[in-house]
Amino acid sequence: MSKSPALKITHRTGSYEIRVGQNLLDSVAELLSSIGAFGPVGIISNAAVNDLYGRPIREALNQADYVTRTILIPEGEEYKTLASAEQVMSALIAQGMERSGTILTLGGGVVTDLGGFVASILYRGVKLVHIPTTLLSMVDAAVGGKTGVNHTSGKNLIGSFYQPDLVIMDVKTLETLQARDRISGYAEMFKMGVIRDTSYLKFLVDHMDECLAVESGDILIQAITRSCELKAEVVEVDEKEADLRRILNFGHTLGHAIESTLGYGVVRHGEAVILGMYGAGWLSNQVGDLSMEDWDKLSTMLKRIPLELPLKSLNPEAIEMATRLDKKVANSQLNFVLLHRLGDAYMQTGIPTLMIKLAVDAIRSVWEGSE
Ligand SMILES: NC(=O)c1ccc[n+]([C@@H]2O[C@H](COP(=O)([O-])OP(=O)(O)OC[C@H]3O[C@@H](n4cnc5c(N)ncnc54)[C@H](O)[C@@H]3O)[C@@H](O)[C@H]2O)c1
Repeated sequence: MSKSPALKITHRTGSYEIRVGQNLLDSVAELLSSIGAFGPVGIISNAAVNDLYGRPIREALNQADYVTRTILIPEGEEYKTLASAEQVMSALIAQGMERSGTILTLGGGVVTDLGGFVASILYRGVKLVHIPTTLLSMVDAAVGGKTGVNHTSGKNLIGSFYQPDLVIMDVKTLETLQARDRISGYAEMFKMGVIRDTSYLKFLVDHMDECLAVESGDILIQAITRSCELKAEVVEVDEKEADLRRILNFGHTLGHAIESTLGYGVVRHGEAVILGMYGAGWLSNQVGDLSMEDWDKLSTMLKRIPLELPLKSLNPEAIEMATRLDKKVANSQLNFVLLHRLGDAYMQTGIPTLMIKLAVDAIRSVWEGSE
């Protein structure tokens, strides 16, 4: 096993480790036995990721006498549904999955969200190991214990808080990722820097090329590890998103609205979050107390992230309406995460509708020509 810093994450009912490194898939059996997982292993993945990385994992597990079952879900956000979760559970039960077994998710955030949800309800909860294979799922979806599926009324409306027993992040798997998926994951690391740690933000900006390069190295390992550490600090204080955890939604109110109005699959989650961070930064300066100096810094950094987006159709009215459907609406008030300054985020309620539309105009004025 090559260099693999272990990050210990503590939560209300226990703790787990995140391993970040290169060529960790070879050691999957050793890592599973280290958490006392000895029953059957139900691997949940999709065909593309399974073709790339499923075999070495199964071979390593089978050699160590683990019984493995592989369940593949179709590609795409539209299959992150309750119906898919039920099909996965039916297949697992039919194939002899036991209460003592382990769900091992192998894939991006769609797979880790769906697989985590299945693990939380199958037999009232089985062991869960995530092997996230996109940068976004490494730094976000697989850390923090949120699982879920979509409903026709909105994204991630059904789900649970369920902490994994182990997360294995092999950065080598990122070498097959598409460029836009790298940018999407970079956006979530960038967000952690903006809301919690300006020296980390500087590190990410200084090393953007290494973070977005095909070849993964120590810089990327450091960037992922620090992002997970920052997220864990927030989640440890507020596991169930009653308060502090809500700052992790910086850029997500407008980001989700942009995603849903353009249609899922048109923009990546993190790409939409980059636009959403721009809008939230603009609002922080216009209706909050973010200084002009910090807004200049933030907007300059965001504009440097290479984005190729079909933005002609960004519609301020539709996006403003979509923000009202967001889960962050409470007591009919839209909660927006704003910045006092770089590294310091807070929740603000009651942002006027007009300002939200103007924030979308500000986004359009920067990116509209990038098609
Ligand atoms: N639970 C949470 O806290 C949380 C946080 C953020 C996002 N999410 C969820 O995560 C999902 C988005 O995750 P995502 O961006 O990883 O998308 P994704 O899971 O759709 O993966 C993106 C694409 O990359 C492919 N892929 C995965 N790994 C690959 C690899 N190593 N090489 C080549 N291709 C690979 C996938 O097949 C897919 O086509 C959304 O459903 C979102 O709601 C959840």
